[in-house]
Parts: sequence; structure tokens; C-alpha cells
Amino acid sequence: MRIASLFSGAGGFEVGFGSAHNTILLNDIAPSAISVLRTQFPQATLIEDVRNVQQGDINSADALVAGFPCQDVSIVGGQRGLAGTRSALVEHVFRLATAIRPAHILLENVQSIRFVHGGRVLLYLMYAAEKLGYSWAYRTLDSRAFGLPQRRRRFYFMASRDSDPGEVLLSDAGSTLPANSLDPSLPVGFYWTEGRSGHGLTADAIPPLKTGSSIGIPSPPAVLFPNGGVKIPTIETAERFQGFPEGWTEAAPPRLRWGLVGNAVSVPVVRWVSDRMNSPAVWDRKLSSPMPDRPIWPLAAWGDGRGLRLAVKVQEAPSSLELGRISDGNYTWTDLSDRALTGFVNRARESRLRYPEGFLERLEARLR
Ligand SMILES: C[S@@+](CC[C@H](N)C(=O)[O-])C[C@H]1O[C@@H](n2cnc3c(N)ncnc32)[C@H](O)[C@@H]1O
Repeated sequence: MRIASLFSGAGGFEVGFGSAHNTILLNDIAPSAISVLRTQFPQATLIEDVRNVQQGDINSADALVAGFPCQDVSIVGGQRGLAGTRSALVEHVFRLATAIRPAHILLENVQSIRFVHGGRVLLYLMYAAEKLGYSWAYRTLDSRAFGLPQRRRRFYFMASRDSDPGEVLLSDAGSTLPANSLDPSLPVGFYWTEGRSGHGLTADAIPPLKTGSSIGIPSPPAVLFPNGGVKIPTIETAERFQGFPEGWTEAAPPRLRWGLVGNAVSVPVVRWVSDRMNSPAVWDRKLSSPMPDRPIWPLAAWGDGRGLRLAVKVQEAPSSLELGRISDGNYTWTDLSDRALTGFVNRARESRLRYPEGFLERLEARLR
């Protein structure tokens, strides 16, 4: 396939699709992303601002792929939906799709797109695909089920011109992810920068890597190890937690690498989608039910492009579930400072959040 990539970031789609496909365009406005893309894909054409991408730049593309900016559809953003200035840039995906009518459009974003701002951005995606006459499917998938020791539930949306994208995203109904039961003999990931309103506690994996604080300070999650050590991953390990090779974002300034990695689409999930595009299979209509008429859209759904929309009951993990575990890997870590840990424990003690028995006590023991 010839792929035109919009909002390319660190290039998660490009790595996931692999060298069997040909990227005909890269696009990103952030200087840090541009440095990485130019270093890793020196042959590809790069246009910085999506607003400047024209039909002639991508005429021959078979697929348009885009992890469009999530700030206005994320729970921690302004929740402005298409009224915001950033997520509304997805309109450029459909501006270009209308001009070139590619065989496929593949989008990725945070799964809160299903309900933030009344679910209107997702409604726009369904509507825009239908306006093109494309059938569409979407599914929430968790990167943890693809061998990465990171819990990361994300929204994958595909619209296709002449084929059924349900045969890519929905035909593998999947398997259930195991419960997040915290066992002191296993590492526990958590957000050390939070504590009051959320903690992200995750057994043997980290909670989702994020872009960083609103002022651009990197804040990778921490991990409490069974021996009492509290560590944070190095940037190279964070790259691996997203499926990139170590050092992938080296061309960017060190502080900005975290944001690039935290923003990226998980590479093995894209690889899975790409494999399924190569071998589509019929999906089971018995798993479908009428689309609920409310602003929280289901975890997965399908539309025939002519107005029929159905909710589809599939899992967030494929049947080839390969649970990623910190304890299985050889990762590199640095210590979390006493000051940072003390701050977290104090916030946690003051908060109304419930913590599993023994967790805060183990952190206090480490401080002593
Ligand atoms: C969620 S990230 C995409 C990450 C990407 N899928 C990856 O795997 O790394 C969104 C990207 O949109 C870029 N962006 C924001 N405004 C843009 C614009 N006007 N034109 C092009 N890119 C833009 C940001 O710099 C950011 O890298």
C-alpha cells in the first residue's frame, strides 16, 4: 500500500505498517517530531502543517492514516470536541479523503472520544465516512494485549471505500484481559505525579504513557518492585513500552522525547491491523445490536456507510492475546527520588481515593 500519514508524530503507524508498505507523505508541525521523522525516514516527503497538504501531494495514496490530536477529546483536555482548535484538525483528514478517495482511512485516538463532548467527535467520524459512502468500523483495543507491558486502551477507526473494515477490525472477537489484581510479588505501576484524583495502579505493567504535564515536564509512571524499590523507566524503555526500537526518538531534544513517545500509537497494534488488512475475514453479525441512542458510544461498532449503525460486542484484546508483563522483560530503570515519592504518599494519604491494603505502607517502608 501507498500510505499518506497525517499527524505522524514519532511515526508509530509507519513502524507498525513496516517496510512492505510505502509511505508517500509524512506530516507533523512539531519540531521534535520533524527531527525524528527526517532522521528515521530520510526518503519520505514531509509537509509540516496539515493545512498545507494538498490533493496533489497524496494523489496516489491507498490509505490515509492519522492519529489526530487528542487534546479536545481527552478527559484531561478542555473537552471542547470539534469546537476546540486541535482535534478539529481531523477535518483535514476528510478534506483530503474527499479529494483523493483512498481505499482506506485509519484513525487512532484516545478511547474517551466515545463520550467526551457528548461523543460528538465520534459522531462526526461516522457521519464524515458515510458522506463519502464508505463503510466504517471502530474498536477499542488495549496495547497490553499486544505484548506491551503498558495498559493503553485506544480507539481505532477504519473506513473503507470498497471493502468491509469490519473484516479487519471486528472479525476476531478476541479474548478477555485478566483482572488487574495487585499482588505484592509482582511489580505495580502507578502515576507518581498524581495521587489525589487518580493513581493508575496496574499489576505488572505501567498505566498509559502520557505526553507529560501541561507545561511539558516529562512525568513517566513509576513502578513499585517486589523488593521495595521504586523506579521510573528510562526513555529507551519507554520507547520499547510503545513497541519502538530503543533510541528511536534520539534525534529529538531529550526532554521532548517523552512527549513524542507518550503521544504515539502503539506499534504492535498497528502491526496487527496491518496483518488483518492482508487477511480480512467475515465478522459475526450475531455479535451486533442496535446502536444505543445516547452520547456514550459503545466500545466497538460498525456502519454500512448508508446509515445503518450497529454496536458490536468484541473484546479489547485479540484472540492472539499476548499479555505484556514488566516482570518478563529486561528493562532499564532509574530511581524515583525520595522527594517525589514523599509528595505522592502525602497526596495519597490526604486523598479520598482508595488504595489497596499495604500499597502505601510499602512505599512508606521504602522511604524509611
Ligand atoms: C497524537 S499525535 C500523533 C502521534 C503519531 N500517531 C505517532 O505514532 O507518534 C498528534 C500529532 O499532531 C501534530 N499536529 C498538531 N497540529 C498539527 C498541524 N496543524 N499539522 C500537522 N501536525 C500537527 C502534533 O505535533 C502531534 O505530533
